[in-house]
Amino acid sequence: MSFTPSENLKQEVAELLTHYPEGEQRSASLMVLHAIQSEAGYISKEAMQWAAGEIGIQPLNLYELVTFYPMLREEQPGKYVLKVCRTLSCALAGGMDLHRSLCNKLKLDPKKHGLQTTEDKKFSIEFAECLASCGTGPVMMCNDDFFEAVDDTKTAEILGGCE
Ligand code: FES
Repeated sequence: MSFTPSENLKQEVAELLTHYPEGEQRSASLMVLHAIQSEAGYISKEAMQWAAGEIGIQPLNLYELVTFYPMLREEQPGKYVLKVCRTLSCALAGGMDLHRSLCNKLKLDPKKHGLQTTEDKKFSIEFAECLASCGTGPVMMCNDDFFEAVDDTKTAEILGGCE
Protein backbone atom coordinates (compact mmCIF):
# COMPACT_ATOMS: atom_id res chain seq x y z
CA MET A 1 0.00 0.00 0.00
CA SER A 2 1.34 3.42 -0.81
CA PHE A 3 0.48 6.87 0.43
CA THR A 4 -0.13 9.66 -2.03
CA PRO A 5 -0.63 12.98 -0.27
CA SER A 6 -3.08 15.41 -1.83
CA GLU A 7 -1.84 18.80 -3.04
CA ASN A 8 -3.65 20.37 -0.08
CA LEU A 9 -1.85 18.15 2.40
CA LYS A 10 1.53 18.78 0.77
CA GLN A 11 0.94 22.52 0.98
CA GLU A 12 -0.31 22.34 4.56
CA VAL A 13 2.73 20.34 5.68
CA ALA A 14 5.15 22.59 3.81
CA GLU A 15 3.51 25.59 5.48
CA LEU A 16 3.67 24.00 8.94
CA LEU A 17 7.38 23.35 8.51
CA THR A 18 8.00 27.07 7.87
CA HIS A 19 6.88 27.79 11.45
CA TYR A 20 10.10 26.32 12.81
CA PRO A 21 13.71 27.38 12.30
CA GLU A 22 16.04 25.30 10.14
CA GLY A 23 17.02 22.15 12.02
CA GLU A 24 13.99 22.34 14.36
CA GLN A 25 11.37 20.98 11.98
CA ARG A 26 10.85 17.90 14.14
CA SER A 27 8.83 20.19 16.42
CA ALA A 28 6.14 20.20 13.72
CA SER A 29 5.73 16.41 13.95
CA LEU A 30 2.47 16.35 15.92
CA MET A 31 0.90 19.06 13.74
CA VAL A 32 1.90 17.14 10.62
CA LEU A 33 0.40 13.92 11.98
CA HIS A 34 -2.84 15.74 12.81
CA ALA A 35 -2.96 17.14 9.28
CA ILE A 36 -2.56 13.64 7.82
CA GLN A 37 -5.19 12.15 10.10
CA SER A 38 -7.68 14.89 9.43
CA GLU A 39 -7.34 14.25 5.69
CA ALA A 40 -6.98 10.46 5.58
CA GLY A 41 -8.80 9.48 8.80
CA TYR A 42 -5.72 7.62 10.05
CA ILE A 43 -1.94 7.55 9.72
CA SER A 44 -0.61 4.56 7.82
CA LYS A 45 3.03 3.44 7.98
CA GLU A 46 3.42 4.72 4.43
CA ALA A 47 2.07 8.12 5.48
CA MET A 48 4.57 8.17 8.36
CA GLN A 49 7.35 7.43 5.89
CA TRP A 50 6.30 10.26 3.64
CA ALA A 51 5.92 12.69 6.55
CA ALA A 52 9.27 11.70 8.05
CA GLY A 53 10.92 12.49 4.70
CA GLU A 54 9.27 15.91 4.64
CA ILE A 55 10.28 16.68 8.22
CA GLY A 56 13.78 15.22 7.90
CA ILE A 57 13.49 12.63 10.67
CA GLN A 58 13.19 8.84 10.85
CA PRO A 59 9.74 7.21 10.42
CA LEU A 60 10.31 5.56 13.80
CA ASN A 61 10.17 9.01 15.46
CA LEU A 62 6.65 9.47 14.10
CA TYR A 63 5.63 5.91 14.88
CA GLU A 64 6.52 6.56 18.54
CA LEU A 65 4.18 9.57 18.58
CA VAL A 66 1.35 7.73 16.83
CA THR A 67 1.52 4.84 19.27
CA PHE A 68 1.87 7.15 22.31
CA TYR A 69 -1.02 9.57 21.72
CA PRO A 70 -4.45 7.92 21.90
CA MET A 71 -6.00 10.50 19.57
CA LEU A 72 -3.72 9.39 16.72
CA ARG A 73 -4.76 6.27 14.79
CA GLU A 74 -2.78 3.74 12.79
CA GLU A 75 -5.83 1.95 11.45
CA GLN A 76 -8.56 3.05 9.14
CA PRO A 77 -11.58 3.75 11.36
CA GLY A 78 -15.19 2.94 10.56
CA LYS A 79 -17.61 5.42 9.00
CA TYR A 80 -18.75 6.56 12.45
CA VAL A 81 -16.19 6.96 15.22
CA LEU A 82 -17.58 6.84 18.76
CA LYS A 83 -15.37 8.38 21.43
CA VAL A 84 -16.30 7.76 25.03
CA CYS A 85 -14.74 9.99 27.67
CA ARG A 86 -12.92 7.99 30.33
CA THR A 87 -11.51 10.81 32.43
CA LEU A 88 -12.42 10.94 36.11
CA SER A 89 -15.73 12.87 36.13
CA CYS A 90 -17.15 10.86 33.27
CA ALA A 91 -15.74 7.60 34.61
CA LEU A 92 -17.56 8.30 37.91
CA ALA A 93 -20.73 9.24 36.03
CA GLY A 94 -20.80 5.92 34.14
CA GLY A 95 -18.37 6.33 31.24
CA MET A 96 -17.06 2.79 31.61
CA ASP A 97 -20.60 1.36 31.62
CA LEU A 98 -21.37 3.45 28.56
CA HIS A 99 -18.35 2.04 26.73
CA ARG A 100 -19.31 -1.50 27.75
CA SER A 101 -22.90 -1.02 26.64
CA LEU A 102 -21.85 0.38 23.25
CA CYS A 103 -19.36 -2.45 22.74
CA ASN A 104 -22.01 -5.03 23.58
CA LYS A 105 -24.48 -3.44 21.16
CA LEU A 106 -21.83 -3.42 18.41
CA LYS A 107 -20.49 -6.90 19.24
CA LEU A 108 -17.05 -5.51 20.08
CA ASP A 109 -14.78 -6.34 23.00
CA PRO A 110 -15.63 -4.17 26.04
CA LYS A 111 -12.25 -4.99 27.59
CA LYS A 112 -10.30 -3.47 24.73
CA HIS A 113 -9.47 0.19 25.33
CA GLY A 114 -7.93 1.04 21.95
CA LEU A 115 -9.72 1.65 18.68
CA GLN A 116 -11.82 -1.25 17.43
CA THR A 117 -14.06 -1.43 14.42
CA THR A 118 -17.12 -3.48 13.55
CA GLU A 119 -16.78 -6.04 10.77
CA ASP A 120 -18.95 -4.03 8.42
CA LYS A 121 -16.67 -0.99 9.04
CA LYS A 122 -19.65 1.10 10.02
CA PHE A 123 -18.62 1.90 13.59
CA SER A 124 -15.39 2.33 15.48
CA ILE A 125 -15.20 2.93 19.19
CA GLU A 126 -12.41 4.19 21.37
CA PHE A 127 -11.91 5.98 24.64
CA ALA A 128 -11.11 9.68 24.71
CA GLU A 129 -9.65 11.86 27.39
CA CYS A 130 -11.65 14.77 28.88
CA LEU A 131 -13.97 16.27 26.26
CA ALA A 132 -14.43 19.45 28.33
CA SER A 133 -17.95 18.87 29.61
CA CYS A 134 -17.14 17.25 32.93
CA GLY A 135 -20.37 18.29 34.69
CA THR A 136 -22.65 16.53 32.21
CA GLY A 137 -21.11 13.08 31.99
CA PRO A 138 -20.95 10.55 30.76
CA VAL A 139 -20.19 12.26 27.49
CA MET A 140 -19.32 10.88 24.08
CA MET A 141 -18.87 11.95 20.51
CA CYS A 142 -20.08 10.36 17.31
CA ASN A 143 -17.80 11.81 14.63
CA ASP A 144 -18.17 15.59 15.22
CA ASP A 145 -21.44 15.39 17.19
CA PHE A 146 -21.25 15.73 20.94
CA PHE A 147 -23.63 14.03 23.42
CA GLU A 148 -24.03 14.59 27.16
CA ALA A 149 -25.54 12.50 29.97
CA VAL A 150 -25.67 9.50 27.65
CA ASP A 151 -27.80 6.62 28.87
CA ASP A 152 -29.08 3.49 27.15
CA THR A 153 -31.99 5.31 25.51
CA LYS A 154 -29.65 7.91 24.09
CA THR A 155 -27.12 5.36 22.81
CA ALA A 156 -29.93 3.62 20.90
CA GLU A 157 -30.90 6.99 19.37
CA ILE A 158 -27.29 7.84 18.52
CA LEU A 159 -26.60 4.47 16.86
CA GLY A 160 -30.01 4.52 15.17
CA GLY A 161 -29.26 7.96 13.71
CA CYS A 162 -26.19 6.63 11.87
CA GLU A 163 -27.19 5.73 8.31
S1 FES B 1 -14.19 14.14 32.36
FE1 FES B 1 -15.43 13.68 30.65
S2 FES B 1 -15.69 15.60 29.77
FE2 FES B 1 -14.28 16.00 31.34
